[in-house]
Amino acid sequence: MRIVCIGGGAAGLYFALLMKKLHPAHQITVVERNRAYDTFGWGVVMSDATMDGMRRWDPESADVIQQAFNHWDDVEVRFKGQRMRSSGHGFVGIGRKKMLNILQERCETLGVELVFQRDVESDLEFPDADLIIASDGINSKIRNRYPEVFKPDLLVRPNRYIWLGTKKLFDAFTFDFRRTEHGWFQSHIYKFDDTTSTFIVETTEETFRAHGMDRFDQDQSIAFCEALFAETLAGEKLVTNARHLRGSAWLNFNRLICETWHHHNGNCHVALMGDAVHTAHFAIGSGTKLAVDDAIELARQFDRIGHGAAAIPAALEGYQTARKVDVARIQNAARNAMEWFEVVGRRYADALEPEQFMYSLLTRSQRIGHENLRLRDGDWLDRFERGFALRDGVTVPDGQSPPPPVFTPFGIRNLTLANRVMVSPMAMYSAQDGVAGDFHLVHLGARAMGGAGLVFGEMTCVSPDARITPGCLGLWNKEQASGWKRIVDFIHANSPAKVGIQLGHAGRKGATKVAWEGIDQPLETGGWPLVSASALPYLSNSATPRAMDRGDMEQVKAAFAWAAELAVTTGADLLELHCAHGYLLSSFLSPLTNRRQDEYGGSHENRARFPLAVFQSIRAIWPSHKPISVRLSCHDWFPGGNTPDDAVIFAAMFKEAGADLIDCSSGQVWSGESPVYGRMFQTPFSDRIRNEVGIPTIAVGAISDIDQANSIIAAGRADLCAVARPHLADPAWTLHEAVRIGAARIGEKATPWPRQYLSGKGQYEANLARASDPTRAR
Ligand SMILES: Cc1cc2nc3c(=O)[nH]c(=O)nc-3n(C[C@H](O)[C@H](O)[C@H](O)COP(=O)(O)OP(=O)(O)OC[C@H]3O[C@@H](n4cnc5c(N)ncnc54)[C@H](O)[C@@H]3O)c2cc1C
Ligand SMILES: Cc1cc2nc3c(=O)[nH]c(=O)nc-3n(C[C@H](O)[C@H](O)[C@H](O)COP(=O)(O)O)c2cc1C
Repeated sequence: MRIVCIGGGAAGLYFALLMKKLHPAHQITVVERNRAYDTFGWGVVMSDATMDGMRRWDPESADVIQQAFNHWDDVEVRFKGQRMRSSGHGFVGIGRKKMLNILQERCETLGVELVFQRDVESDLEFPDADLIIASDGINSKIRNRYPEVFKPDLLVRPNRYIWLGTKKLFDAFTFDFRRTEHGWFQSHIYKFDDTTSTFIVETTEETFRAHGMDRFDQDQSIAFCEALFAETLAGEKLVTNARHLRGSAWLNFNRLICETWHHHNGNCHVALMGDAVHTAHFAIGSGTKLAVDDAIELARQFDRIGHGAAAIPAALEGYQTARKVDVARIQNAARNAMEWFEVVGRRYADALEPEQFMYSLLTRSQRIGHENLRLRDGDWLDRFERGFALRDGVTVPDGQSPPPPVFTPFGIRNLTLANRVMVSPMAMYSAQDGVAGDFHLVHLGARAMGGAGLVFGEMTCVSPDARITPGCLGLWNKEQASGWKRIVDFIHANSPAKVGIQLGHAGRKGATKVAWEGIDQPLETGGWPLVSASALPYLSNSATPRAMDRGDMEQVKAAFAWAAELAVTTGADLLELHCAHGYLLSSFLSPLTNRRQDEYGGSHENRARFPLAVFQSIRAIWPSHKPISVRLSCHDWFPGGNTPDDAVIFAAMFKEAGADLIDCSSGQVWSGESPVYGRMFQTPFSDRIRNEVGIPTIAVGAISDIDQANSIIAAGRADLCAVARPHLADPAWTLHEAVRIGAARIGEKATPWPRQYLSGKGQYEANLARASDPTRAR
């Protein structure tokens, strides 16, 4: 085949050398607009996995690259006058120029023709080619000639960054954060050869403009960064690589992915490769890795199918299919890390203390858990846990292990929880006339004895017509209050757990069947009239609610106030106001369900007016030493609905009104919703509200093990973790999870086993230890 690679970066050179090596009869040319052995860029970060792949396909170049590697294990964070280090993170780096020069040499040795200083305008300049590789980088002219074919999806990210270098050598991957009068700047610094370190400086667009940097030339930019990072540079200069075509000016990261990766131009096949088809943010590593992996995959396809021109269509199709999956995975991981750096100034830098800030940074991709950090650097994590415990008043004597973050106490108003696991409210549909009976006593009692620091009962409805189903709990009469009091008394007498009651009104989602007879399905008989913000049914077969008038509002407010008064008599420790999941108060907050034209609809202020009035009515009654939380749907998952931006506004309003905690749930507001589920999928809402609004939060949703909970609490993404469905599977979820990570470290106070059950504890621990050690006899 006659193959032309347009662009002699990592993608073009590596593909050329692999194909020539696999099938020397190929006639291969790489055309590069720059001069020979001339290139731009600083350090390239590679992973062990990429190097293994390279070694399998071309050990000769891999060996030379490997020898030129710089390896470093430590991450150092410089922040608020502190220098903090943690180890075990393992990166390798090489100068981009060095790596490309190695690849150029290898191409020459194998007989690939290298043509320099030729700027290609079009793929049609090579009429004799069978295959053209468009490896011409992010601004690919070849890709831009066929936008309707390749369908590039380009997302310009908001931050500004500049690639610089310095002769100062850093022995750790260093992140340096500096505040100016206009906001935060951060640098990502790593040494990549014996004389040079990469020094990327990043900030937000607002801070960039506030400093007038949009008018800076390169020298002014460098002078600014040198002054800002003077302490870290310790007298060394920052340098730009002005020869690079795009210069070392401030850039916005462009996240690119193409729908189609190859095309027949009427003459021959054209395939996109490397930055021309996708990009990955520097927060996760280099685009060079992706470029190399592309080259390997396409070469592998030819090797599998055949090296003749007839194989091209199938090889290109196989290449696109295989690489799209991998690139999506990497772009996804890169997104979390990239977004962390985009919001770090606004969300974390001012809110978090240095150690927690570092923890948040290290776990920014949400792929590294708490115990994984222990494997990487146990001493660092031990110090972190010790400091975290001390902050909550737990002094750990030297020589004793500190408790993991979930098992530290949490205090709010006069309430202190022994640990930060909460049994999330879960409707059980098992009440008679709204009265909690034996089922509720056993159900909630078991979960309290199961170790959670806080046990919430299900949504407890403030009037008969506020119920979701006829089986829901209520709190509008004294008998119901007595039912609740029996549970609270039992829990207080038999466990250290505290008890929460969630007050709610079903609104347009009321008068439905119990879950096992059809969730959200309207009752066929015995229903009741519904009220809501607007007269919109939930499902097409749901009853249509009446839009509330002022009289209805006064009545509902009074019902909430009376329920709060009854709740006081139960001795419960905490109240939650249910403003989520499309129920009555949530239907006021969401623009999807609130179409009102009066002062209760429209703006955020108007939509929150009634829920806030209800909140104030219960706050006035609930004892001032006891806290109240508010549950919000932080995302409606439907166009035109609330998003986390709106949730931040509402959370601030409830904070202002005296709420102590925001319980960050989402969805169930609009039946056409499309939630994006995943591990800990609602935790980002809690993270944002906690650190941007400055109010304690509860994270909930797909938190399924204690490692996830520990990393959420440790990183300051929430103050409590609510766990719902796992508690249906295992009432003693907290005790069991504690044993799994080594209960000895946690201490009796945070996870006491009921004394009646103590003989089960030793056996459970021994069985678990045996199960995790295959060498021990069963
Ligand atoms: C300013 C800057 C600095 C960077 N520094 C680093 C770094 O230090 N470390 C790192 O890992 N990544 C760095 N990157 C990212 C990196 O460039 C890519 O992710 C990676 O190199 C992808 O390889 P590629 O071969 O697809 O593209 P590139 O490496 O971009 O290679 C494309 C090549 O095509 C050539 N070319 C473009 N158009 C034409 C044309 N019309 N005719 C002929 N030749 C053409 C270019 O000169 C270039 O050599 C940097 C990016 C930028 C913009
Ligand atoms: C059976 C069941 C009933 C629920 N009832 C309520 C409820 O009454 N009030 C509420 O706010 N959330 C309710 N939820 C939602 C849970 O509190 C929780 O937010 C959700 O299940 C996600 O957490 P998980 O992934 O740990 O299960 C219920 C969930 C389940 C599974």
